[in-house]
Amino acid sequence: MTATLIDGKAFAASVREKVAVHVARLKDEHGITPGLAVVLVGEDPASQVYVRSKGKMTNEVGMNSYEHKLAADTSESDLLDLIAKLNADSNVNGILVQLPLPDHLNEDLVINAIDPAKDVDGFHISNVGLLGTGQKAMVPCTPLGCLMMLREHHGSLSGLNAVVIGRSNIVGKPMANLLLGDSCTVTIAHSRTKDLPDVVRSADIVVAAVGRPEMVPGSWIKEGATVIDVGINRVPAPEKGEGKTRLVGDVDFASAAEVAGAITPVPGGVGPMTIACLLANTLTATCRAHDLAEPEGLTA
Ligand code: GUN
Repeated sequence: MTATLIDGKAFAASVREKVAVHVARLKDEHGITPGLAVVLVGEDPASQVYVRSKGKMTNEVGMNSYEHKLAADTSESDLLDLIAKLNADSNVNGILVQLPLPDHLNEDLVINAIDPAKDVDGFHISNVGLLGTGQKAMVPCTPLGCLMMLREHHGSLSGLNAVVIGRSNIVGKPMANLLLGDSCTVTIAHSRTKDLPDVVRSADIVVAAVGRPEMVPGSWIKEGATVIDVGINRVPAPEKGEGKTRLVGDVDFASAAEVAGAITPVPGGVGPMTIACLLANTLTATCRAHDLAEPEGLTA
């Protein structure tokens, strides 16, 4: 392997440490403790793990965590009532409704019921519009984490060719907007893109967010490019024993690491940055709510 490994686990720990220092100062100087409310509807096992881990890390940086676990058959109006209460609660600075929601609930309607100032996921249509027009927004956590790692590695991103593979609302589109904001030349590629290997070969920065295991081989990567792998795919690992699995990204790590200048591993790359950025966003929302200076280096 020739590429520099971008250690998301270590970087996420440093982001959480910065958040914790800022939270301690908010408490000492202003008597404010940021609060993050997480709403989980139903019993999806993966979501339960995420929510538990979010609650633990929220407490570890000195914030208050409020968990609301609702039954899978909760009605839309009951969920909207809870969101209205959280919107009105001054102890709650950030609200996250864990997705996916059960099928009978309208995700767009629910997300857009959150006060945009408390929308720490950055999914509310107002925040999407603010980001798209280069205004101060709450920014989705995963792309924010990718941006932080890219800035840390490159310093300025100005003028670099960036290719984002994947056009989701949660990662691809906001990632492209963030890279544009940092003056990259941005291409969004997706499943219908013609000549995808050539498009990717033009990139100084590749962000892979398609959810297809090891789809991007090293032969697509330009020598020296920076590769950010957002994918987290569980695949069979018969070499570890019958029924065993392992996590892989959207990039074939072994071949890509031979040509890239820098690359994020899976696991231990983008994944840990997402919760760290959720905490950073909760801190940012708290500072904005109280008209206090925002933390440096923790926003877009
Ligand atoms: N489910 C999986 N990832 C996320 C996320 O970043 N935010 C929310 N709200 N739900 C998710």
